[in-house]
Order: sequence, then C-alpha cells, then structure tokens
Amino acid sequence: MGSPSSSPAANRAFPHLAADERPTLKDVAKLIKDGKAKRIMVMAGAGISTAAGIPDFRSPGTGLYDNLAKYDLPYPEAIFDIDYLEERPEAFYTLAKELYPGNFKPTICHYFFRLLQEKSLLAGAWTQNIDTLERIAGIEDDLIVEAHGSFAEAACLNCRKKYTKEEIKPQIMRGEVVRCQEKRCKGKDAALIKPNIVFFGEGLPDRFFSRLSHFSSCDLLIVLGTSLTVGPFNSLMHRVPSSCPRLLINLESVGEVDGPRSREGFDFDGVTGRAGGIRDVRRLGDADEGVLELCEMLGWADELRRLKDEGWKALDEAEGKTTPAKVEERKEEIKEAKREEIVAHVGEAVEGGKAGKEDVDDLTKAVEGVSLEQKDPINDKKAPL
Ligand code: APR
Repeated sequence: MGSPSSSPAANRAFPHLAADERPTLKDVAKLIKDGKAKRIMVMAGAGISTAAGIPDFRSPGTGLYDNLAKYDLPYPEAIFDIDYLEERPEAFYTLAKELYPGNFKPTICHYFFRLLQEKSLLAGAWTQNIDTLERIAGIEDDLIVEAHGSFAEAACLNCRKKYTKEEIKPQIMRGEVVRCQEKRCKGKDAALIKPNIVFFGEGLPDRFFSRLSHFSSCDLLIVLGTSLTVGPFNSLMHRVPSSCPRLLINLESVGEVDGPRSREGFDFDGVTGRAGGIRDVRRLGDADEGVLELCEMLGWADELRRLKDEGWKALDEAEGKTTPAKVEERKEEIKEAKREEIVAHVGEAVEGGKAGKEDVDDLTKAVEGVSLEQKDPINDKKAPL
C-alpha cells in the first residue's frame, strides 16, 4: 500500500489551496490571473443599478416595494401583477416613467461585465434587471439574458402588435396609460401596450430556458446585487459544476445553505463539510466597490474606470450634452481663433508701416497670454465664434 500522500488534498475549486483552506477574493483573482477562469458567468440583480439611481426592490426603506404607498397597492408586488395591471394600469405606467431607460447610465458593475467581454472571459450576463443597462454598457446581445424581460420592447396585450421603447416613450414620459391604436383594439380597456417585462404570473423569456445549459461549462460564477429571492432565477447558482467556484458580491449575505445537511445554497464557512473544500466566497459591501477591489487585484482597475468614463462620455455626446472634454475642446478652438485674429491685425499694421519690432514682441506675448474665462463656451452664447 503506497504511503499516504504527504500533501493535503487540494481544494477542487481553488487548486492552489489545500482542501481545508478558506478561499478569499484574492484566490478568485488568482484563478482569473492564472487563466483558470475563462468562462465566467454573472448573475445580477437590482443592487448593481442602485448606483445609477434606480432603487432596488427590497432594501428596507429605499427599496421600491417600500416606496409604492402613493399607488395604494393591495400588496407591493401588485405593481408587476398582470391582473392588477388591467384593473388599475395607472400605477404601473407611473412607475414606468420613473424607471424608463434613457435617464440612467450603466455603473462600474455593468462596465466590469463589459471588461470581461473585452477580455473574452464573459460566458454570459444573466440579469433580473429591466433597465437595459447591460445593453447600454455595450455587452453583446448574444451574451445577455434579461431573465425578467426589459423595457427594450413592448407589445399590445390584445392584438400582440410589437412596439419599440422609443415608440411609446413620449406617452410613458407623460405618465400616460399607453393603449394600442390598432383598429381592432380601439376603445378596448385590455388593449394596453405593456413593456416586455415579466410580470408575476407570466412565463420567463424562451432565451432563459434555451441557454440554461451554458451554466454547465462555467468555471467561475459571480453573483452581484441580488437578494436571490425570486425563482427560477435564484436556482441558476446550482447549475454550475460542483467544482465551480462561486463569488457573491452583495451588501448582505444571501442564498446561504440553511444547515449542514442542506445541499443547496452558498456554503461560505464549510458547514456542510462537502468534499473538495469550500468553493464559495463572499465579498460583502457595495457592488461597485467589490468589483473595483477585484479589478485592483487583477491590475484592471484603470482599464475599468476608463471603460466607464468613455462609455459615459459617449452617452453624453449622443444626447448632445456638454461634456468637460467638449468644453476644453471648444476653449482651444476659441483661443486658436483669437490668436489668428491678433496675428492678422498686427500683420496688417506691419504691412501698413504702423507697427514696429516692439509691437511684434507685444503680439507674441498677447498670443501666448490668450485665456478664456467662460465656464461653458459651448452653451455660453456670449462666447466668440
Ligand atoms: N451594492 C451591493 N448590493 C446591493 C446594493 C449595492 N449598491 N444595493 C442593494 N444591494 C443588494 C441588497 O442588499 C439586496 O440583497 O442587492 C439586493 C437587491 O435585492 P432585491 O431588491 O430583492 O432585487 P433583486 O434581487 O434584483 O429582485 C429580484 O424581484 O420583484 C422581483 O422582478 C423583480 O427582478 C426583481 C426580482
């Protein structure tokens, strides 16, 4: 019989650790750095969009469900109940105005998913959020699964005619109940145009089910900003291979096993004594900070910040907003024009014999000294040119 192996068994999810060692965020970073995590799946919830100004659902006090009193709902989730929508549609359409895409920018978390995509490490961005911020952050459509639908498209509940989010945006932004104008729908209360958000009682999109198998080849699962309250989305965490490491980045600890005999849930402390060692890591706290901490360990933090800054700048420019970069660009343009104007004037004077050497010296100083005090020369009508 061979001698018992001297080295303790390795942790199956973190091979550089012994089976009895507890993995940390640093160990997750090491897996990525060592090229051992190449098919990273992310599962996201409302907690990754709170930094964008969109409330989550269940955080006490700030969550949406705590702030629906003005709609006088029978219970909070009624706002997303298909029967209640037909009974009292104004509640949902008022909320839709507050949440509608176009008023929010993706967060660091969304750009982290984009960075994983740029590094060909993102196997899938599965989100419960309806804000379309994953799309706006530039994640490829083929990698996104909006498990609870989104505002991206809409349809008439009566005739099923499709509408884009732009088509119904003007009415939504006026807080109006949006109804289908097709002849066969006119005058029908049920002919509501409903964004393709999954209401309680409705089925999830086909894409959710047709891509479930992607989890079986995942080699790192990252769960961010969700209470893991709602199924079947919350069951996705059980679909990764048993040796697949799982990282939770969330304000609170969620989805944990409820005892040593439980086979389900995160086991951050090894209470189940499962073979192969602990594979679950949690980084509690703000999602953006947690992602930045991971990216600092990977040496990607500057790249991530740059991706976000460029993304936001592009969004501002697309909306015609004045960005700091554009203001600086405009100031340079105006200074250049002033310099050319000064040179032209003195050039004329020298030609006409009205300016001597000392004037040309003054000119040089004047051109170098050209400054601009306008804060926003783009919108400041007094700015020259
Ligand atoms: N950083 C990290 N975690 C955060 C942050 C943040 N900035 N803000 C909130 N959280 C956490 C909360 O502590 C909570 O655990 O995110 C989680 C948000 O949970 P929910 O509000 O329940 O949102 P979510 O999990 O996305 O809800 C799932 O419920 O009502 C349905 O369809 C709706 O998709 C939604 C689903």
